[in-house]
Amino acid sequence: MSAAKAIWIAIDGPAGSGKTTVGRLLARRLGFQFINTGSMYRAVAWGLCQGLTLEGMELDLADERVLLNGEDVTPNLYNEEVDLRASEIARDPSVRAFLIEKQRQLAQGRNVVMEGRDIGRVVLPEAEVKIFLEASLEERARRRARERGGSREEVEQELAERDARDHDFGRLDPAPDAIIIATDGLSVEEVVARALAAVREALEKDEPAGKTSEGSPLPGERGGRCARL
Ligand code: C5P
Repeated sequence: MSAAKAIWIAIDGPAGSGKTTVGRLLARRLGFQFINTGSMYRAVAWGLCQGLTLEGMELDLADERVLLNGEDVTPNLYNEEVDLRASEIARDPSVRAFLIEKQRQLAQGRNVVMEGRDIGRVVLPEAEVKIFLEASLEERARRRARERGGSREEVEQELAERDARDHDFGRLDPAPDAIIIATDGLSVEEVVARALAAVREALEKDEPAGKTSEGSPLPGERGGRCARL
């Protein structure tokens, strides 16, 4: 890898697998930009509900805020209705093409941790590191219920329905060269530590000997503690 080449880390996995929590922390430790592509599908779903067309949408990310035609729409994006609409509109090939192009533009020339469903397989197949987070439906429902409230049984039902809608376009499949982390029973810190180890190992393979020695911090890497997923 040349010194100028940006480093791309792809994180994929099903709803509730911890991609956002882990991706955000990993990006912070590495000093990389974090890009949550689910938020972009959510913003498009919300925009279409407001009567906008795809051609009439200008999407931007500012840290983790999503700007739609210059307006911060983030507070509208995380509720059951948008969960449903986003996974529906994500089946439209023109929506996928629009967002995939945008996501590739966002990664150009930047060190990024990008999370979603198709990052390692489709958006950034050249990513240096591809991580796929797995978790059982029960564990994902437990995490989501804690984040958003509601009974675990109801959330489990909602996630099972979303998995069924998300199964096309290979959205629940890891890239063939992804590192799979089974997260059931692991704390956030444990998952982040495994992801960092995977990043270090992958980059050591690419770098000339001695550039990142065993156990040494990666650029921007910092310690820190965090709660359970
Ligand atoms: O990750 P999040 O739950 O916010 O994503 C919302 C929806 O957007 C998902 O249910 C999925 O259908 C879709 N999505 C996708 N490809 C991505 C990211 C999200 O199809 N890269």
